[in-house]
Amino acid sequence: MQPTSMKAWRYNKTPLDDIVFDGPDATFVLESIPVPKPDDVSILVKPLMLSNDPAQRTWIQKDRAKMRLYMPPVLEGEIMAALGIAQVIAVGQKVSKYKAGDLVLGLLQWAEYLTIKDDDVWLSLINGGNPLEFDMSVYLGAMGLSGITAYGGLMRMCEFKPGQSLIVSGAAGSVGNIVVQYAKNVVGASYVIAIAGSEEKCDWLRKHGADVALNYKSPTFEQELIEATPDYIDAMFDNCAGPILDACLLRLKYWARIAVCGAISSYNDSAGQHLKNYTEIVINRLQLLGFIATDFYDMVGEIQGNIGKAIKEGKVVVKDAETIVDVRDKFEDIPKVWYRLFEGGNIGKLVTVVGDEE
Ligand SMILES: NC(=O)c1ccc[n+]([C@@H]2O[C@H](COP(=O)([O-])OP(=O)(O)OC[C@H]3O[C@@H](n4cnc5c(N)ncnc54)[C@H](OP(=O)(O)O)[C@@H]3O)[C@@H](O)[C@H]2O)c1
Repeated sequence: MQPTSMKAWRYNKTPLDDIVFDGPDATFVLESIPVPKPDDVSILVKPLMLSNDPAQRTWIQKDRAKMRLYMPPVLEGEIMAALGIAQVIAVGQKVSKYKAGDLVLGLLQWAEYLTIKDDDVWLSLINGGNPLEFDMSVYLGAMGLSGITAYGGLMRMCEFKPGQSLIVSGAAGSVGNIVVQYAKNVVGASYVIAIAGSEEKCDWLRKHGADVALNYKSPTFEQELIEATPDYIDAMFDNCAGPILDACLLRLKYWARIAVCGAISSYNDSAGQHLKNYTEIVINRLQLLGFIATDFYDMVGEIQGNIGKAIKEGKVVVKDAETIVDVRDKFEDIPKVWYRLFEGGNIGKLVTVVGDEE
């Protein structure tokens, strides 16, 4: 018997800078609301695992022009959105693509149940409906959006070749760790510098393919970067922008390609980005190449095939590259778990377990 009411996190108030957790200006509020009913062309799903993505912060960004976004923003009053894995509980009369019990990947919500139109572009059967080859959470990380982003950014945007050198920022995160491992252990990078925010993460990166790992919070970070790059570097995969990118602009070769993947250093800061070394881009012909993972959907088969093979061969480690938080009895923790992304509280993919299969 399905419950008639459920818990859901509503997006309450646009944050100016940092997320607000309590009081009248709280960014999100927890509510008890009726379980929605699917119409003829929708399915009712129960989220099992939520993906935590820095991009969710940009979906609730103040004053962002809607027509410039790659997906619709979440508006004040709506339930907060999140990518994730869910189980299909019921389907509308005209739905033929999905049946009760299927596991799907899609754009979900911070809610115990939700309905999704069967033709939603983000919705698909997990692993194409075939039996899972890896733990379910891996389809949110290396075999999911993070893997597509890492591979597409490295191989298509950086055009990365065996024997080249690479700097990766945000290197111990979900996208970053795959870039480090794939560049070094599969493509055959000559030299990988990984940048992350703690000594523990730097040790972890040295174990998984980084020739050098630098803690950007160290007071001597800029000097250590200079010492680590006597011959300058061929390419960069940048997840952070801000002061880290600024320091790296000084250490790249002429015509170096930079995959501009994200800018997490400024997502909670309305002051935006400021690069004091901007003219390096002009003088050294640096190629800053922005992209969104959906640009690589034409190569998803190639990406998942190659990353899947690398995982099976032990060249890309996934077991050790996840931070899984179980909130099945603590639905109220969902925003705080997500916020760990901005505090450096994850190694690899940060996944929130929210429900059990029925
Ligand atoms: N273009 C695309 O299509 C696409 C797709 C997916 C992700 N992205 C972007 O890729 C980046 C990484 O995403 P992810 O999912 O892999 O997240 P993630 O790296 O697993 O988690 C975020 C990490 O960012 C670091 N961080 C937080 N605040 C920072 C700051 N002020 N300066 C430097 N580092 C900071 C933290 O690690 P430390 O402890 O090292 O600080 C944290 O663990 C994000 O910028 C995201 O928006 C882009």
